[in-house]
Amino acid sequence: MYHDRLSLFPDTVALRPDKSGRPSLHVGGCDLDRLAAEWGTPLYIYDLQTIDNSVEAYQDALSRRYPGPAGITYAGKASLNLAMARLMAAHGLLLDCTGVGEMHIARAAGVPRAQLLMHGVNKSWADLQAGLAYAGVLVVDNPPELERIAQLAPARGSAPALWLRVRPGYAVDTHHFRQTGQHDSKFGMDADQCVDAIAFCQRYDLPVTGLHFHQGSHFHAAQQVLPALDMVCDLMGRLQKQLNWWPQVLSPGGGWGAAYHEADLPHPSIEQYVATVAAALTEKLSPYALPLPRLQVEPGRSLVARAGVAIYQVGTVKRAGGRRWLLLDGGMADNIRPALYQARYSALPVTDPLSRAPISENAWLAGPYCESGDLLIEDLPLPDVKSGELLAVPVCGAYQLMMASNYNGALRPAVVMLRAGVAQLAQRRETVEDLLLRDIV
Ligand SMILES: Cc1ncc(COP(=O)(O)O)c(C=O)c1O
Repeated sequence: MYHDRLSLFPDTVALRPDKSGRPSLHVGGCDLDRLAAEWGTPLYIYDLQTIDNSVEAYQDALSRRYPGPAGITYAGKASLNLAMARLMAAHGLLLDCTGVGEMHIARAAGVPRAQLLMHGVNKSWADLQAGLAYAGVLVVDNPPELERIAQLAPARGSAPALWLRVRPGYAVDTHHFRQTGQHDSKFGMDADQCVDAIAFCQRYDLPVTGLHFHQGSHFHAAQQVLPALDMVCDLMGRLQKQLNWWPQVLSPGGGWGAAYHEADLPHPSIEQYVATVAAALTEKLSPYALPLPRLQVEPGRSLVARAGVAIYQVGTVKRAGGRRWLLLDGGMADNIRPALYQARYSALPVTDPLSRAPISENAWLAGPYCESGDLLIEDLPLPDVKSGELLAVPVCGAYQLMMASNYNGALRPAVVMLRAGVAQLAQRRETVEDLLLRDIV
């Protein structure tokens, strides 16, 4: 079980001897110990080969399993910076931006309009203006938003294609904070609202071309998309009959899960997820003598989570009430997921991770912040780890830095991209000066 932890790490993980001949964790051909010495800790690293492999797994499964056209949108909310935006664009993916802020990052990265998609449940005027000006696709969440778009939309031709966000009435099995598809969710429109919205678009000559739904994030059983797919296919039949409208694109959103802890293994299969969606869609739409819509999946976590590793240094090792505490130099400020979702992680020492003496005592790993909720990993079997050692936490590539904060004056960590033995700084560590950038002096 303990040894299985290694397979939570990126595809390129390896153990190679360090200067003193002890095995040391390597990712992307780079020694984690050296990376920490160069850029400090906490440090976030991304193995680009692992991202390439995940993208390829989606592309391959879509081309083999779905008889119609297909594509991938990367949900930028999982992890976005210039390097990530460029990587996803180079793979030919669409980039989903939530609002004007993420759109700004994507544009600064040079992502062309045709690859930009905007989401958002309560888009501001600034969001809508940015979406209309720069996006190739704008996903409409609700009827008032559609009316605002009609007011703002420039002459047809330059406007983005519109997709409607359907609220299917079915969530997936995940933490309730991550469920979005249920009937009382704040996201999207029900079937009647979608019919009215398409009629509205037809009346005002708005270029509506697709339907989208997203049931929630981090689920592991592919069949959980089936009730929502049924609902949306029925809606398509209704739209065809009532309004003679048929989508060119159908996006079932994202949400496919990742294994964070050895108890979650094996890794959820991208192939199995895509095969389930593709087969259900093909079968459900077979009675219609109409072209299959483009199947546009929208993953975030399953593309980037496992590519990311967080490296922390152990500071104080202490005992309290029978617990062995390892206090790290990062925690809830760079990873709020354990506090927010009770997410369970694992970890390995960077040096000599696997062959130390049998573990006699579990450890509690916490950060330096003034909250008892600043608890990264509870009750984890871990060998004897000394102050000053490095710990590597796998599966840290999604929804961590994007939710990072400056709580207690924490400085957001540096981000380094790794490929074939070359480490490239993508984001520098924040400095104390950065903490004052917004203050008026
Ligand atoms: C609209 C939308 N699409 C896609 C995703 C990606 O989800 P995941 O990262 O779980 O694949 C999300 C995240 O919850 C989302 O809100």
